[in-house]
Amino acid sequence: MTRRTDSITTTHWTRDPAPLLLRSGTTRFRDPNATDPSPPSAAITDTALQSLRRADTANHADAGLAPEFARDDDGRWLTRLRCPTGTSFYGTGEVAGPLHRNNQTVTLWNTDSFGYTIETPSLYQAHPWVLGLREDGSAFGILVDTTFRCEIALDSDTVLAASDGIAPAVYILDGPSPQAVLEELAALIGTTPLPPLWALGFHQCRYSYEAEHEVLGIAEEFRDRWLPCDTIWLDIDYMVDARPFTIDQHKFPDAEKMILHLRTKGFRTAWILDPGIKVDERDTTFVSGKSQDVFIKQPDGSPFVGEVWPGRCAWPDFANADVRRWWGDQTARFIRNGADGVWNDMNEPSVFDGPGRTIPTDCLHEADAGLGGPDDHARYHNIYGMQMARASFEGMLRERPDRRPFVLSRSNFLGGHRYACCWTGDSASTWEHLSWTIPMMLNLGLSGQVFAGCDIGGFADNADDMLFARWMGIGCLLPFARAHSDKNTNRHEPWSFGPACEHACRVALERRYRLLPYLYTLFEHAERTGVPPMRPLFFADPADESLRNAEDSFLLGSDVLVRASVTPEGGCTAPMPTGIWRRFEPTETSDAHLPELYLRGGAILPMGPIMQHTGQRPLDPITLVVSLDAQGEARGELFEDAGDGFGYREGDCLRTVYAAKRVRDHVRVWIEHSEGDRPRPLRAAEIVVLLDDGGLARSAGVGGDMICLRVAPSAIEPIDPENPVGRGA
Ligand code: GLC
Repeated sequence: MTRRTDSITTTHWTRDPAPLLLRSGTTRFRDPNATDPSPPSAAITDTALQSLRRADTANHADAGLAPEFARDDDGRWLTRLRCPTGTSFYGTGEVAGPLHRNNQTVTLWNTDSFGYTIETPSLYQAHPWVLGLREDGSAFGILVDTTFRCEIALDSDTVLAASDGIAPAVYILDGPSPQAVLEELAALIGTTPLPPLWALGFHQCRYSYEAEHEVLGIAEEFRDRWLPCDTIWLDIDYMVDARPFTIDQHKFPDAEKMILHLRTKGFRTAWILDPGIKVDERDTTFVSGKSQDVFIKQPDGSPFVGEVWPGRCAWPDFANADVRRWWGDQTARFIRNGADGVWNDMNEPSVFDGPGRTIPTDCLHEADAGLGGPDDHARYHNIYGMQMARASFEGMLRERPDRRPFVLSRSNFLGGHRYACCWTGDSASTWEHLSWTIPMMLNLGLSGQVFAGCDIGGFADNADDMLFARWMGIGCLLPFARAHSDKNTNRHEPWSFGPACEHACRVALERRYRLLPYLYTLFEHAERTGVPPMRPLFFADPADESLRNAEDSFLLGSDVLVRASVTPEGGCTAPMPTGIWRRFEPTETSDAHLPELYLRGGAILPMGPIMQHTGQRPLDPITLVVSLDAQGEARGELFEDAGDGFGYREGDCLRTVYAAKRVRDHVRVWIEHSEGDRPRPLRAAEIVVLLDDGGLARSAGVGGDMICLRVAPSAIEPIDPENPVGRGA
């Protein structure tokens, strides 16, 4: 690719003379020199495409942002978008390094990237999407809709994409704010379905908890030590020689019984299932796959065979609907043992002895017409993991139509958030990797993949107590919170680093469980709108230039501000957004290693009691933390439902808007609005008002009733609007 814009100025650029206005904020363009019809899309949902077709008759757009098109010497399709000076770029999916993507280049080619650095050109996922933030805080986005290898180079004010294969359709989205552009994007690529509540609890993993007694021992430690946890993960050593859909009976003599036992202690389990199927006539999955002709073939028609954990393997062709169904059926049969979640790994796909550690690009896929029809791996490589996750998700849903599937996938593609949560792969236990965590999560969330986490503590190498405590502090505030570590590393459980670190971990975990009602509410909002629960600081004020590079601070929703330390020296470098932000502690105690938390003036934060797992007790008492604005008012929302299943989509839920107002020396809190068919539980309510002197005022009542709280008049003096920042901190 011609990466430097100055070296391509002589190229002959053309524009699409007839772009289509698809929604009020979305315009579709294509290189007018493309002779073939626009290919179908993996990223954009069928529903969106249907409405797009209906919009085809609409007026052509006179778009302010119009991409230009050209070919380079290698025949690649170039898309160039010149953007206003001062634009800040974000997105491009899973990328290590800075949050701000100006002057960065990414290659979209899913790659198994153990121990990656900021120099690694491609990680595990591909998101051909860039979000641009203009100086005035308005925003736009560009989606280069291709599944082929694509390089995206961002300089100070130009997006330049070079893609192989077929000329892509290019979508330009425009909106008054980054939030509005993400809503436009969600209208195209869909949103993240609300996860089951347990999946928002804490997850403990290791490569591997090798036998039943070890799994039960880990579970027992969590409960004995009062460390909240919902899920224990089973990595490849539970299998016979790492073969998917097998369970080693010597290590796990009765998996079903073990799962049941863990359930009585409030634990779920999630099990790894990789795509490589051992080429072995005694392997029932291989025999079944071979008889149904599911495996990817070489140009000569023989199955492609390569090396991964089980040895010589063949790979199912997930681009094909029958193969996805077959895989879904294997998964469905497997989870009849009671497994709650499925973990799809190595699905870039990773082939140890393959060219570039993957399947050769000339291998063949019998892809569905809806994905583009039969073609080679060059075209389907980037959606291999996405289609695998889709197969797992759909198989789980067929098997358990009343439960929300939970799939974790390492590889994915733009739009794949519809099927799977993701984590950022094989990081290392270093401060550098910890420092990339927040920007990585934020850029994933700005690329549609809002349900994301990292290996808390780092995957490879050994953490020490300080690094682990800091990582837990941040990790427990991420959308997906799972600790994981590599084989042959020191143990990385919360108690592995001595009592001081264990204390920090306990507080970090208790914080997460107290914040779950809020987090769950944010996820439900994300399902409706596509706006991520974890947001960059600049969402507080998109026009404030100083917030655009904040990498050690982020927002949960619009109300909670997290200030973390990602260096051994400690301290947070990000500025505070303007407005009132009051420091608060969700638990009674704190720990110096944990991020500082602030609540926006004008917000009411719903919190639950500390619990050891999400099913331990109902949301009772509810705690409403009130941070009044300059007018002495506050508002906050809570979404509740059964925590699993789909009843909430038919109204079996309860959405409550709480309001608070200061009236002389009183603060009143009441329910301003509620909707949904779910009866309001009779429960205790605790009100905590954050005061301007840093103190708290508390009162208790019954949830739903108006609660009146008398506070010391001096503590609620009207706030000086000239100097409101950080009051009470
Ligand atoms: C890969 C995964 C890692 C897992 C290991 C063994 O390296 O990224 O999370 O533990 O494979 O399955």
